[in-house]
Amino acid sequence: MSSTMKEKLDSIVSDAVSRLAEAQDPDALNTVRVDILGKKGQLKELMKGMKDVAAEDRPKIGQMVNEARDRVTELIEKRKKEIDLEVMNARMAAETIDVTLPAKKAEIGHPHPNQIALEELERIFVGMGYEVIEGPEIEWDEYNFTKLNIPPNHPAKDEQDTFYINKDIVLRTQTSPVQARRMEQGKLPIRMISPGRVFRSDEVDATHSPSFHQVEGLVVDKNITFADLKGTLDKFAKEVFGPDTKTKFRPHHFPFTEPSAEMDVSCFKCGGKGCRFCKGEGWIEILGCGMVHPHVLEMCGIDPNEYTGFAFGVGLERIALLKYEIDDMRLLYENDARFLKQF
Ligand code: DAH
Repeated sequence: MSSTMKEKLDSIVSDAVSRLAEAQDPDALNTVRVDILGKKGQLKELMKGMKDVAAEDRPKIGQMVNEARDRVTELIEKRKKEIDLEVMNARMAAETIDVTLPAKKAEIGHPHPNQIALEELERIFVGMGYEVIEGPEIEWDEYNFTKLNIPPNHPAKDEQDTFYINKDIVLRTQTSPVQARRMEQGKLPIRMISPGRVFRSDEVDATHSPSFHQVEGLVVDKNITFADLKGTLDKFAKEVFGPDTKTKFRPHHFPFTEPSAEMDVSCFKCGGKGCRFCKGEGWIEILGCGMVHPHVLEMCGIDPNEYTGFAFGVGLERIALLKYEIDDMRLLYENDARFLKQF
């Protein structure tokens, strides 16, 4: 009897050995464990036959069953460790990080062409002793127009050109009102530039936008003449467009300056001969300027018999477009990084 029990136990153990060798994952391992060691497993079944075993053989058979259980448990443990290791190795292989691969570049922004141009303008004028000040984008009609000698019937005040908040308040159409704000402070002399956003009721096209930027300039002191204006703006033009740049002042009209002029620079592409860039002219218009109108000085509390001054206004986009040879203003507002990082 004990010999058949032994044979059965041996066959259970060898069956376990071959099934465990085939088991490839923790689930398969568990199936083998339940089949052999479980409540309804092969060993439990075998124990049911104990009642037929002679009483004196029972301890020995019992010991054999225990040994078989220990052996199978041990085999399962061993296989479990193997499978765990295989699973771990497979994961390690799958999740390998190649530390020699170049890292992804962090996207850092790029200064906007307007910003680059503005910083250059600020560098030039701060270098000549100017202060940089800002004024409000939402402005009194009085500062945007009246204090700048712009009469109520002036075409610039037309609703087709100006965004009105109400009859007294506008989105400033120019940075010139900062001149009046600065002069009214009464601190003299004045050497200032004032960059900022301005608004006009314009349709968007390659050269127009309802919102763009200007840089205003103002100098007020004793004995300031048109020669100071010319010298300053000529220096500015040479700094921005190169040392060979020539300047030309054409008479013009602005209500807040007298006399007034527009300044052209010699085309920095063709040197003045005439090319596609300057439309055959040899000259490119850059800014408006003039001697501060005595009446404007007076309205801002400055005695025009004691003080004189000059002023100028530059379109920032205009400088950026020319300097970087960008042919469509809309590109400046699309914020496409592929465009912006070229400058
Ligand atoms: N504000 C003028 C404009 O927007 C530009 C300008 C012209 C400003 C002459 C000035 C100046 O300070 O003197 O067209």
